[in-house]
Amino acid sequence: MSNSCNNSGLSSTRRGFLRATAAGAIGFPMIVNSRTLGANSPSKRITMGIIGCGNQAEQDLKRWLPMEDVQVVAVCDVNKGSHGYKNDAQFLGREPVREMVEEAYAERSPTGLFKGCSSYVDFRDLLARDDIDTVAIITPDHWHAIQTIQAAAAGKDIYCQKPQSLTVRDGQEMIKAVRKYNRVLQTGSQWRSTTFLNGFCKAIREGIVGKPRHVLNYVAKNNFDGPGPGWKPMPVPEGFEYDMWLGPAPQAPYHEDRCFYRFRFVSDYSGGQTTNFGHHAIGLAMWALELDNTMPVELWNMGAEWPLRGDLFDTATKVHFGFRYADGLEMECVTSPKSFGVRIDGDKGWIETNGRKITGASSPEIAKAVPGAHTWDQFTAHYRRFIDCVKSREDPNEPVEIGHRVSTVCHLGNIAMQLDRKIRWDAEKETISGDREAAAMLERPLRAPWSYEV
Ligand SMILES: NC(=O)c1ccc[n+]([C@@H]2O[C@H](COP(=O)([O-])OP(=O)(O)OC[C@H]3O[C@@H](n4cnc5c(N)ncnc54)[C@H](O)[C@@H]3O)[C@@H](O)[C@H]2O)c1
Repeated sequence: MSNSCNNSGLSSTRRGFLRATAAGAIGFPMIVNSRTLGANSPSKRITMGIIGCGNQAEQDLKRWLPMEDVQVVAVCDVNKGSHGYKNDAQFLGREPVREMVEEAYAERSPTGLFKGCSSYVDFRDLLARDDIDTVAIITPDHWHAIQTIQAAAAGKDIYCQKPQSLTVRDGQEMIKAVRKYNRVLQTGSQWRSTTFLNGFCKAIREGIVGKPRHVLNYVAKNNFDGPGPGWKPMPVPEGFEYDMWLGPAPQAPYHEDRCFYRFRFVSDYSGGQTTNFGHHAIGLAMWALELDNTMPVELWNMGAEWPLRGDLFDTATKVHFGFRYADGLEMECVTSPKSFGVRIDGDKGWIETNGRKITGASSPEIAKAVPGAHTWDQFTAHYRRFIDCVKSREDPNEPVEIGHRVSTVCHLGNIAMQLDRKIRWDAEKETISGDREAAAMLERPLRAPWSYEV
């Protein structure tokens, strides 16, 4: 795959270097990455490449760009720039996002000018730059594993958006690569670092509802409908490298609803709201109940509903599955108008949160045990923790193993709903016992030339 960005014949590394130098010359401090100066240099700035410049990248950049010790030096997307994302106002892709980065830095530059962010079509060209310390992987879920593995092998630390993976096998391979190359990986579940939810989890662990017996994990209903049965392929838009968007997923005719944000409702690329909101909600319950290292032993369908046969969208329109842990604790994950949230019932009462505040409790005393409320700025802690860990080489608060386990519960829920039967999880062997059809769903073939090999 050639690097066709920026209309330049220069190699990506050379161009990146020239741009970095030019950036220093026009007023923004010279970009010197951590490897050049050494880990403890006071002027060290962590350099970052953004892979995937869509809806969530716009949100994530609001965290990365204001950080004084982080510099986004490159962006990558298979889309040059277009509308068609989550909402009509968004014009996204590698060129608009590159401009967004440069404008943000220009505002902080004494000259009001800044040019120092390169753009790439092929993430491997971005990974080949040895002046980049970290990458933020903000692509659709079917890319997370391969891009993480290749980034780890290239010596980058990784902020990988949730859900961590498309399949259980993806997650296993991601763990191997992150540990083999000694990289830091933070899964992008920003709710896991908020002050408010820290208080919620602390109160649960201190026994505010007593011994937990049952947990409800709420996920949002689908916010888009598919094109319906009989949908027709569309021409690939100019400036959109469709084959590189599909990557390891099966060959399939182009439709705008397949890509551009709505990919999350097509099972070749994502697990629907089960993995999208499920990773946040189930991840919160696991964190609160100290189950990050524990897996359920069985999972079952509780009445999932699906789009019409023949629609492009094929993930559940109504998510509903149950799961049980070895000690008898039961959880449910269900589509709800409450959107994201968790309700924990214990032997002394219950409490519910939507992540922003306490939305219900069995008594005013229980509700009052969790102080404060969520504010937008509280998400920054999750991103900050990643950068601090890049410097300290500690594990962040949702490292690759925890991200894998949270995503695995979601994937198993999807398998139980799809097969409409109880499945049993063998946590030691990381497989579904006694059900070959279900176990085969733990991985998918990767379309050549893509593989987990580096
Ligand atoms: N943490 C959160 O709260 C949160 C919220 C929304 C989305 N997300 C996650 O972020 C990820 C992206 O979701 P989104 O809503 O931004 O989707 P999106 O479709 O809006 O953006 C994804 C971008 O990735 C690009 N892309 C696809 N393949 C690529 C490749 N091979 N190389 C480079 N770019 C490629 C697409 O062209 C698109 O611009 C998903 O995993 C999603 O679950 C997390």
